[in-house]
Amino acid sequence: MKKTVEQLLMKIYAGRADIHLDLYQLSNQHRRKHGRDCDMYPSDPLQAPLWKAIASLTHARRMLEVGCGHGYTAAVMASAGGPNCHVDTIEANPQHAKLAEKALQERDLSERITILRGRGQNLLPRLKGRYDVLFLDGDWREYPRYIPHLRRLTRPGSIIVTANLNPLFGGWGGRLQGKPAILSYLTRLVRDPHFRTYIVPGEWHSISVRV
Ligand SMILES: C[S@@+](CC[C@H](N)C(=O)[O-])C[C@H]1O[C@@H](n2cnc3c(N)ncnc32)[C@H](O)[C@@H]1O
Repeated sequence: MKKTVEQLLMKIYAGRADIHLDLYQLSNQHRRKHGRDCDMYPSDPLQAPLWKAIASLTHARRMLEVGCGHGYTAAVMASAGGPNCHVDTIEANPQHAKLAEKALQERDLSERITILRGRGQNLLPRLKGRYDVLFLDGDWREYPRYIPHLRRLTRPGSIIVTANLNPLFGGWGGRLQGKPAILSYLTRLVRDPHFRTYIVPGEWHSISVRV
């Protein structure tokens, strides 16, 4: 996104996209320090208002994230849901999980956010109950294996936001592996009668409603 567009959007949002920006900055600092192999890319702060809209739409009480990183989006989601909403967030990298745990404790958010350590593909089958909101922001090569659990862990009206579709469509990640997994995931999700899915061009997220 062009800098001028970003600035215009920030002006329009007038502070509504600024929540937990310090955690966003810490995530970027960590990634820059750890170089190429680190995938701690926090979501764009311009997406923060999306979580407020989705939390209101679903009357969210339970949210789930795959790919916690430093805890930035988990914190945004928890704040969007308010004090009666709980966020579970899955993180495969023990160092990232430790950083997030500390950061969330320091922000008095650890009661409202639970970090589950392990890979999404191993932990999703063990989760129980229904979530109002899901955010998939970890390893896209696992996405096809998530589909049966997406159905099981949602109720009609739940919303699933899937990030990291860029390797298939363009922008960052064009040279990364895993394009067939993204294609398979999106094709199945779009055709699944339990979901209505919109792929956001440019942003390369998808938004699915469970029906
Ligand atoms: C793009 S970052 C997530 C950033 C976070 N959602 C945010 O916006 O602040 C991806 C994170 O997912 C973790 N990860 C990668 N593969 C994973 C997997 N299969 N299961 C769970 N976490 C995974 C990485 O260690 C990294 O911390």
